[in-house]
Parts: sequence; C-alpha cells; structure tokens
Amino acid sequence: MYACICHAVTEQQVRACAGQRLGEVVSATRAGSGCGSCVRRLRSLIEQPAAPGERRAADRAA
Ligand code: FES
Repeated sequence: MYACICHAVTEQQVRACAGQRLGEVVSATRAGSGCGSCVRRLRSLIEQPAAPGERRAADRAA
C-alpha cells in the first residue's frame, strides 16, 4: 500500500526508515514533499518498529 501517493512511496519503504527523522525520510524517499497530506501517516510509520522480516535502513547501513 502506498504511504505517499504523490511520489508512489510504499508503507514498506517508509517503515524501512523507522527511527529516522521525518526530514531524513523525505530526503531518502521524497515522500511528503508533494501535497503534504501524507505527513501524519509518515510520522506514524517511522515511529512504529519494523515488522518481522523488515530491516531498518539504519540496520542495513551498519
Ligand atoms: S501524498 Fe505524500 S506528498 Fe502528497
């Protein structure tokens, strides 16, 4: 499911950024940089822990 329709960014892509600041997620995915209507949803997604099997972007970078 898309978290950001303007830039076709999926919830899974946003969840991969869990633990990052919203600005970092916007820079990485462009989500939230269009109409802005998804920002509340983005905040919610990045505050949730990643689901089993999903790796956080920060974990992948390590
Ligand atoms: S739906 Fe995300 S910026 Fe418009």
